[in-house]
Amino acid sequence: MENTALCYRQFGEPETVLRRETAIKAPLQPGYLRVQMLMAPVNASDLIPITGAYRHRITLPAVAGYEGVGRVIAAPDSAAALIGKRVLPLRGEGNWQQYVDCPATLAIPVPDTIPDSLAARAFINPLAAWLMLSLYPPQGKRVLLTAAGSDCAILLGQWALRQGATEVYGIHRSAVHADRLRAMGIIPVAQHELDSVRALAAASDIVYDATGGELALAILGAMDKSAAFICYGLLSGQPFALQRHFPSVHWFHIRNYLDALAPEAWQATFRDIWSWLIASHYSDTTLLPFTDWQSALAHYRQAGRTRKPVLEFG
Ligand SMILES: NC(=O)c1ccc[n+]([C@@H]2O[C@H](COP(=O)([O-])OP(=O)(O)OC[C@H]3O[C@@H](n4cnc5c(N)ncnc54)[C@H](OP(=O)(O)O)[C@@H]3O)[C@@H](O)[C@H]2O)c1
Repeated sequence: MENTALCYRQFGEPETVLRRETAIKAPLQPGYLRVQMLMAPVNASDLIPITGAYRHRITLPAVAGYEGVGRVIAAPDSAAALIGKRVLPLRGEGNWQQYVDCPATLAIPVPDTIPDSLAARAFINPLAAWLMLSLYPPQGKRVLLTAAGSDCAILLGQWALRQGATEVYGIHRSAVHADRLRAMGIIPVAQHELDSVRALAAASDIVYDATGGELALAILGAMDKSAAFICYGLLSGQPFALQRHFPSVHWFHIRNYLDALAPEAWQATFRDIWSWLIASHYSDTTLLPFTDWQSALAHYRQAGRTRKPVLEFG
């Protein structure tokens, strides 16, 4: 069987190092499903590893992409009931390819009520938000988010409110996000209004930050020592140095928690995530053919975007 994949053989800017490669797919391993991909989004979490940010953990050549939805076309006898069904083929191979093999016990069945464009985005950002809220609970707390227009932050904000946060403020870079944040119950704050940002930081109990850099430093400098700062992204590309007067800083990365989720707990987590996702606002999608992946990356790079680019496999 021929398979076309978006591969990288060296680290660098995704636009430069990604190549479409077609090859014969290796035979399916025992205990694995083969999934014909339907859709996969373009997230920061897919692009950052290609740059070499986690080069110590990635063996080259590699297939890009960490999530998506597809239909099972082959399965071991123990999972034969999944043939023809939609699943999320996770924690196996890269997802930006036509056919993905993944361990049958880790594939997540998709409920019929969930459309492909939502299912394709049900892993990285929802699970990261879900785990961060479990590890650093927002109940009774005043919450501050950065990069608040991002998919991960809008779920963090809505689910923090659902879990009893007293108020959620969202710092956004582009003005376009203000109204949509308000509609989700998140109080918008423009990133350039630094006095407001500092005043809110001073009154916050917990900050979930995905920007790093100068904004993180401004927030940390204003926060109370008893508060908590959760750093889960570095969208500015600028790290920041810790200082003694800062509150406690916690670094979160989803990969540190996946191994601890045995297959049963992993499946159970998604049963929660499906019900939470379907009841939440999430960004709309722009579908682009897999063959036009360069346009999908260009769409991803647009500042002030409110839609997530999603690769559609023909
Ligand atoms: N640690 C983990 O395990 C984990 C898991 C999932 C996600 N994440 C992180 O979560 C973040 C969001 O990912 P996503 O897929 O949700 O993003 P997304 O939906 O693609 O949205 C990206 C958002 O980031 C904003 N942004 C980009 N650069 C910025 C900057 N320098 N300063 C302020 N805002 C900036 C954009 O604002 P504009 O609209 O103004 O352009 C946009 O709203 C990423 O950093 C990702 O790595 C981490």
